[in-house]
Order: sequence, then C-alpha cells, then structure tokens
Amino acid sequence: MANAPALTFEQIPHPAPVPGATRAQAIADPGFGTVFTDHMISIDWDEGHNGGKGGWHSAKLCAREPIMLDPAASVLHYAQEIFEGMKAYRREDGTMALFRPDQNARRFNDSARRLAMPELPEDAFIEAVETVVKADRDWFPDVEGGSLYIRPFMFANEHFLGVRPAKKYKFLTILSPAGNYFKSGAPAVSIWVSSDYSRAAPGGTGAAKCGGNYAASLVPQAEAIAKGHDQVVFLDAVERKWIEELGGMNLFFVFDDGSIVTPPLGGTILPGITRDSLLTLAREEGLTVREERYSLDQWREDATSGRLVETMACGTAAVVTPVGRVASRDGEFTIGTGGPGQLTSKLRAKLVGIQRGEVEDTHGWVRTID
Ligand code: PLP
Ligand code: COI
Repeated sequence: MANAPALTFEQIPHPAPVPGATRAQAIADPGFGTVFTDHMISIDWDEGHNGGKGGWHSAKLCAREPIMLDPAASVLHYAQEIFEGMKAYRREDGTMALFRPDQNARRFNDSARRLAMPELPEDAFIEAVETVVKADRDWFPDVEGGSLYIRPFMFANEHFLGVRPAKKYKFLTILSPAGNYFKSGAPAVSIWVSSDYSRAAPGGTGAAKCGGNYAASLVPQAEAIAKGHDQVVFLDAVERKWIEELGGMNLFFVFDDGSIVTPPLGGTILPGITRDSLLTLAREEGLTVREERYSLDQWREDATSGRLVETMACGTAAVVTPVGRVASRDGEFTIGTGGPGQLTSKLRAKLVGIQRGEVEDTHGWVRTID
C-alpha cells in the first residue's frame, strides 16, 4: 500500500438533504443508533486496480443511500466485514473534534489483516471521517453528552461463493447523532454473566472488530435483556472462569486500596481505545494499575467483602458507565452502593472533559476539525 497514489475525495452533495425542521426533530432525543445523517463516504477496492497490485479508488462523499449488492456478494455468505466506532464532539467554542482517530485507523487495519482484507491508509481513513463530519456538521444533537457517532466499515462485495478472501471490497462511513447508549438512563447498569456462551476463543477473532463477533453475542445479550439486565459479560472460553469483557465494552475493577485491574489484552478481547485512555489517566492519578486476569469467583468474593468498591464498563458508545449489579446462574451481587462510584465518576469527567475541550489535552489525543 505504501506506493499507492493518495486518494482524492469527489464531493457529491446530497441533492435533497433532510429539511432543517425535520432534522431538528430527529436529533432532539436521538438515543443511540437510530438516526442517520444526509451523507456518507464510499471508497472501493479492487484486486485489478493499481497495476494489478490491488488498490483503493472512487473515493467520494455522497448522499447516504441504500447500496446495491449482488446476492452472491461474499459478505452475505462468509461475513468478511469489519467496522470501527468513534465519535465527533462539538465543543463550547463551536469547533468539532475527534478523539484519538489514529487509534481507530490503526485498529481498523489490525482488524482488516485478521479478516484477510486490504488495509486502508490511515490518512485516508481519517480524511474520510473528517470529510463526512464536516458535510453533516448540522447534525450534532443538542442533548447532554450528545455527539456524532461515526461508523466506518468495510465489507467484501465480490460475487463469488468459493471460500477465499474476496477480490473486491467497499469501505463506507456513516454518521449517527447519538445521546445515551443505555436506554434506561439508570445511574448504573446491571450485567448478566453468560455461562453457556463464549464470545471469542484463543486464535479466533476476539481482538478484531468484525461483525461476526457481535452476531455471536446476540443470543447471550438477548438472554441478559430477558433476565432484566443491560449487558452480557463473557468469561474466557478455555476455563470459563476469567472475566473478559461485555458485548460492546471493556471492564475495570476498582479496589478499596485505590488500585485498579482490567483484563489483559490476549487476543480474545477488543483492545478498547477508551480502555487504553483510562489506563493512562488512572496512572496519572497515581493509582496502581494492573492488567491481569480476574475471575468471576474473585469478583463476587471481593464485592461481598467490600474489597472491590467499583466496576466500570467503558467504550466509545457507552463512555464510562458504572456497573451496579451482576447476576449469574449462581445468584446476584451488588457492587459498592449499586450506584456510580467516586473513581468512575472522576475518570469519566476527566475523559469527557478532554474529549469536549474542557480539560487540557496533555497527550495530543484530540484532533480538531476545521
Ligand atoms: N469491547 C467491545 C466488544 C466493543 O465493541 C467495544 C466498542 O467499541 C469496546 C470493547 C470498547 O472499545 P473502544 O473504547 O475503542 O470504543
Ligand atoms: C462502540 O462503542 O463504538 C461500539 O462499537 C460498541 C457497540 C455499539 C457495538
């Protein structure tokens, strides 16, 4: 890819964007993932491009509209698909900003390699994101904690039924004005430990952000909802003992001595960018931070004895959310007071403050968009 020519994005503005009044209504209380903006980015990859070396082409900003897919498109059969999740923030001074977009670009390419897909140069990924955010700058929701959720994704669209990496791909980026991820709006979420299902096994695709991982999580997630919980938490697939992560978030455990623990990255959990940022912020607070395995039994024992005082779930969509209650086949336990804990609130405020330009960004994490 290093020698591939730089991409130029053709601009084809939407001929009939959503009228202002309709848009205002749509973004007044958008929740998560149901409202979409006028535009999208589209880029194609073909094996025959770039003198037969394979390459990206036809980059454009265009109206967000349904896509045509041949019924034999390989994504529909073998799920060669990856995605990212990130947010654009509008700050007090009116500027727009992204948070660590280089990390999303890098993880996107890590996922691409695992799924035998072509990599998209990091600068093209970031330009794609910035271009569509600029085009749809009027779609930021004016709600507490609101942002534009950005969903870059790529799928195989060669029509071929043999099982091998496809020779054609499409990269798209769409935007969704977003408020709270959790519908309940409760101060802390409740989670269900899945005993019957695993999310990822060693050597599998757990560290990649591919649609298949989420497809596999739907039955256990539905089980969690049916039992009255917000999210499912997965255990490791080998010993069925160690806490891994939630269906769409990483986890942190906070102890009464001020130390914190998060499960290590070992290929079966997603290397969250929020997780990585919280590790840095917690170290700066002077906390002892350990990336080490933590078992369900220990979690229950520590929550009961009071040694464990907080548990937080974190991710782009969910930001930093306290976990108040944990339930499994063996019964339930409460974390701390069952509501938001001190450190969770402090780290959340710091992270959100940096993202929104209210706390100094000493790490160069924020990238403003002109
Ligand atoms: N784990 C899973 C399975 C996720 O889907 C996400 C969300 O992207 C995360 C963790 C958190 O990752 P990040 O903080 O990069 O959003
Ligand atoms: C995110 O936090 O961006 C996620 O992708 C989680 C979920 C919406 C899939």
